[in-house]
Amino acid sequence: MDKPKVVLGVSGGIAAYKACELLRRLTESGHDVRVVPTASALHFVGAATWSALSGHPVSTEVWDDVHEVPHVRIGQHADLVIVAPATADMLAKAAHGLADDLLTNTLLTARCPVVFAPAMHTEMWEHPATQENVATLRRRGAVVIEPAVGRLTGVDTGKGRLPEPAEIFEVCRRVLARGVTEPDLVGRHVVVSAGGTREPLDPVRFLGNRSSGKQGYALARTAAARGARVTLIAANTGLPDPAGVDVVPVGTAVQLREAVLKAAADADAVVMAAAVADFRPETYAAGKIKKKDDQEPEPIVLVRNPDILAEISADRARPGQVVVGFAAETDDVLANGRTKLRRKGCDLLVVNEVGERKTFGSEENEAVVLGADGSETPVPHGPKEALAETVWDLVAERLS
Ligand SMILES: Cc1cc2nc3c(=O)[nH]c(=O)nc-3n(C[C@H](O)[C@H](O)[C@H](O)COP(=O)(O)O)c2cc1C
Repeated sequence: MDKPKVVLGVSGGIAAYKACELLRRLTESGHDVRVVPTASALHFVGAATWSALSGHPVSTEVWDDVHEVPHVRIGQHADLVIVAPATADMLAKAAHGLADDLLTNTLLTARCPVVFAPAMHTEMWEHPATQENVATLRRRGAVVIEPAVGRLTGVDTGKGRLPEPAEIFEVCRRVLARGVTEPDLVGRHVVVSAGGTREPLDPVRFLGNRSSGKQGYALARTAAARGARVTLIAANTGLPDPAGVDVVPVGTAVQLREAVLKAAADADAVVMAAAVADFRPETYAAGKIKKKDDQEPEPIVLVRNPDILAEISADRARPGQVVVGFAAETDDVLANGRTKLRRKGCDLLVVNEVGERKTFGSEENEAVVLGADGSETPVPHGPKEALAETVWDLVAERLS
């Protein structure tokens, strides 16, 4: 089988050096990558590096190898175009259809999915001109990854940083796998909770659970690759932030509730994949609970935590909001799932069987998605991303 053909456009931002790692990841995972830098990009990383790493010639202008008509052919033959970093200038040119170099010509001739990973100073990113250009590109079907927050060029910090190459690679992989040029979650805001809450007993101990957060992160990644604005409420996961996703770290069930309610206020869909503790210790000891000789420990008294899924299902923040829950069951899985779906009042419930060696921490999952409309969608054993894609298919159906 032919290798998927990827065009890596690189524009003139300081983060151009990070695109070298993205290029390596793409080539090492079996993609045929043609790098098309802008003239400005070559001030940051030279043509020799792009050419040696990609195994292809590199030009910035339409006037090289004219007999091969590269200004048309490169775009026509691509399965994916990714521009990383995408400068403010490149976003403006792409939004307005300018074609004054090889990359901008390629963007006009490509009929495959296109992903932009912008990187720039916060002021440039927030400028209404840039924001309007981004909105235009998204409206036309491009996936524009939100920049990360962090250290920028020089001493500045803020939003505008290029996400980690490994995470941009994940977006490319997902977009290539779906192969659609019109992502179905563009313009949607989705909220995903992930991980497991921890309910503190004292400053060093907590009651927790085995959830790793991997299913929730797969949901966040796949939604971003389908064009959604994603808020990920992450409870004690320790996983790297997915590219283009706004991550809100939380610890306890009460904190998770607050964060979910805040983010859900303008959300089109809320997917509660986090394992939220049903109970928490009634009291919190300000100092470490000490072991006393010849004395049995005090029993731990538990109180109920709020039922966040039932609360957001009953009191939708906006009409038509789709709410999805997860039910981890150890026995009588489907019967318990159906009862839980009715009790919680959500639109979809992803039911899976869990145990010490099942689901938790694993890269794979197997589930049935129950719908409030009586539907049942089995998802066979496979990567957590496959289950995530099915969940978004079902959410997208309900949103349209
Ligand atoms: C040191 C330096 C760093 C720059 N970093 C960025 C950047 O991160 N993002 C950006 O949009 N522009 C950045 N610029 C400005 C662009 O290089 C400039 O707008 C250029 O015209 C972009 O050309 P291109 O879009 O054709 O690559 C930087 C310029 C310099 C000199």
